[in-house]
Amino acid sequence: SIVYLNGDYVRLGDAKISVLDRGFIFGDGIYEVVPAYGRKPFRMAAHLARLERSLAAIGIKAGRSRDDWEKLVLDMLKRSPTADCMVYLQVTRGVAKRDHAFPKNALVPTVFCMVSPFTRPDAPHREQGLSVVSMPDLRWLHCEIKSVSLLGNVLAKQHAIEAGVDEVVQFRDGFLSEGSSCNIWVVKDGVLLAPPRNNLILEGIRYRFLEELAGDAGVSFESRPVSEAEVAQADELMLSSATKEVLPIVNYNGKSVGSGKPGAVYAKLRAGYDRAIA
Ligand code: PDD
Repeated sequence: SIVYLNGDYVRLGDAKISVLDRGFIFGDGIYEVVPAYGRKPFRMAAHLARLERSLAAIGIKAGRSRDDWEKLVLDMLKRSPTADCMVYLQVTRGVAKRDHAFPKNALVPTVFCMVSPFTRPDAPHREQGLSVVSMPDLRWLHCEIKSVSLLGNVLAKQHAIEAGVDEVVQFRDGFLSEGSSCNIWVVKDGVLLAPPRNNLILEGIRYRFLEELAGDAGVSFESRPVSEAEVAQADELMLSSATKEVLPIVNYNGKSVGSGKPGAVYAKLRAGYDRAIA
C-alpha cells in the first residue's frame, strides 16, 4: 500500500525515518485516527480540530492549515483499497541529536499518514457484547493529548488480553477514566453517564457524538465523576472509539452487567450510529 511521508507518496516498505526521530527516541509526537465509511471521512472536522489541539499542546508547529490536513486525509482515502477504512495521521517533533529539551532551532516535523482497511464491529460483538476487567489508571496526567507515547495504554490493553477479556476499565483515585483505547459509558436508572472532559481522559470524537445521539433518543446525559461502585452496579456499560464505534459491555470483573445482555440505551445509540453512517 501507498503511504504519505513528509510530502512524498511511497510504498509502505519504502517509508523510512531516522532512528533519531524524536517520535522514536522520546515518543515526542501526536496522532489521529479518522474513520471513513464508503471512503467518506466521518466527523473529520472534529478529528482535525483535535489534531490541532494535540499539536498546540506539545508546541509542534507543523506549518499546515486545516485545508492542508483535510486534503491529505481525502487524498489518502482515494488510495484506500477498501471502502470502509481508517486514516492514521502521525506528527512528531522531527529529527535531532538526542536531547530531552526541544531543539533551539525549530525542526521540520515528521508527518506520516496511512490508510488501513477497517472492519465494522460484526454481529457477534454487537449482539453478544464484550467482557472487561477493572484496573488502576497508571498513565500520566495529560491523557487529553493524543500522544504517541502509549506505553501505559499498551500495558493496559495487554492486561485485558492476559485476563482473557476484551478491554479494561481504568480508575483514577476511585473514579472512572477510560479504557486502553476507548471511552467508557455507564447507564444507571436510564441516565447515560460519562466522566468529565478533562486531562484524565482523551475526549473521543464519539464523546460529543454519542451525547448528541442520546439527546435525539430522549436519553438524559450527565458528564460527571463516576465512582467505581457506580460502574460495578451499572444497568449498562458501553465503550466507544473510532474503530469500535459503540459496543455493549456485558461482563464486568466476571459478573454480568444488568441483564447480561446489551441494554435498551445501547440499542438506541447503536441505531442512531448506524443511521448517521448510512
Ligand atoms: N483510540 N481514549 C483513548 C485512550 C483512545 O486511544 C481513543 C481512541 C479514545 C476514543 O476516541 P475516538 O472516539 O476519537 O476514537 C478514547 C484510537 C482509535 C486508537 O488509538 O487507535
